[in-house]
Amino acid sequence: STNDDESSPIWMATVSAPTNIACIKYWGKKDAKWNTPTNDSVSVTLDQKDLRAVTTAAASIKFEKDRLWLNGEEEVGASDSKRFRACVDGVKALAADPSKWKDLKIHVSSYNTFPTAAGLASSAAGYAALVAALAELMSAKETYQGQLTTIARQGSGSACRSLYGGFVAWKAGSAEVSTEGGTPWADSMAVQIADENHWPELRAVIMVVSDEKKDTSSTAGMSTSVATSTLLQHRIAKVVPERMASIEKAFLEKDFESFGELTMKDSNQFHSVCADTYPPIFYMNDVSRTIVRIVHAYNKWAGETRVAYTYDAGPNAVLYTLEKYVVEVGALMAHYFPSPATATTAAAADGYFNDSTFANDVTAFTLNSELLAATNKTGRVPNAGDVKKIYHTKSGPGPQVLSNEKDGNLDLKTGLNT
Ligand code: DP6
Repeated sequence: STNDDESSPIWMATVSAPTNIACIKYWGKKDAKWNTPTNDSVSVTLDQKDLRAVTTAAASIKFEKDRLWLNGEEEVGASDSKRFRACVDGVKALAADPSKWKDLKIHVSSYNTFPTAAGLASSAAGYAALVAALAELMSAKETYQGQLTTIARQGSGSACRSLYGGFVAWKAGSAEVSTEGGTPWADSMAVQIADENHWPELRAVIMVVSDEKKDTSSTAGMSTSVATSTLLQHRIAKVVPERMASIEKAFLEKDFESFGELTMKDSNQFHSVCADTYPPIFYMNDVSRTIVRIVHAYNKWAGETRVAYTYDAGPNAVLYTLEKYVVEVGALMAHYFPSPATATTAAAADGYFNDSTFANDVTAFTLNSELLAATNKTGRVPNAGDVKKIYHTKSGPGPQVLSNEKDGNLDLKTGLNT
């Protein structure tokens, strides 16, 4: 949209973008300059109804410099960062009318509906929203399918997968493949394997594990892993190529048994690579590991894989399961990880769950006593406060344009953060 000052209009667009959680993990850069990976990866895009970044991008001759606000605070100097520049300049080059935008400065304001510090892939949603908002603002046109994902990838690797919904792979690509403009790694891009309607029964339960702050950033951690971990080299050469083929097949066939097992094994290998890094990196904590034990005890009791865990560069568990088991999974987790609020407050009402219908279903569910006997053998004793919040969500679509002006974060007249 534009304001009504015709001499120097402010052009503006707002989009919302989803986060994604990888089943086969990206860990390692092949070309740090272009931010390409050592291996393919694949993730589930989560529903923006529950977790999203909302970004407004504006351009005007009135603006003196590029500016960026994150969750209401201006990030001074952030618009000079290599990641931000790659996104802004990359999209400008694809603008429908490049000469119109070339010299205009850009204002960007972005907020997350989930805690940035919670480690829920906020950079993936954030850079996907940035690229999608800029593309909408400038009516950018891809010269080939996936080109915008190659730009988002330079913001944050995992962000490229958030430009599509459903089940999305990031193909590592080849340095030799370049665009007309000479940009290398043109095929290091995201590809949609299946959309969000392919497997509608798939659910995700996210356990936000109490944590101070992530000790090693992904960028720094993967650089040390590439330099020191021999397990990572084996993973790149042998393990990931086989797993990528198997998990794509499992997802397309909706084979949860295989999908879940591959997801858990790949999370375990990623954290093993971290332990094999020198000096070692630890992202999971005792609570994370307890969730792993309970998941395995539950699946063993059930005689099938009903739930699968995966962990990124932090202690939070993302549990993939199916609609028919999700209330049981939620009840099992809420039993061992009760709400940190007072015991007299119903979990349904105290905001422990993002979804009140799910909270009510979980609270009303009676866990099988043999299941509890089996999971008690892990040694876990219910303890309030180990988990801060439980999200119930599913897979969803890629970025959405928000056309209602009140969804924007920049003032229509001044272009400043509202
Ligand atoms: C463990 O995408 O945050 O979540 O490219 O350096 O910004 P940069 O890294 P980032 O790394 C994500 C790593 C991961 C696995 C994954 O999402 O595939």
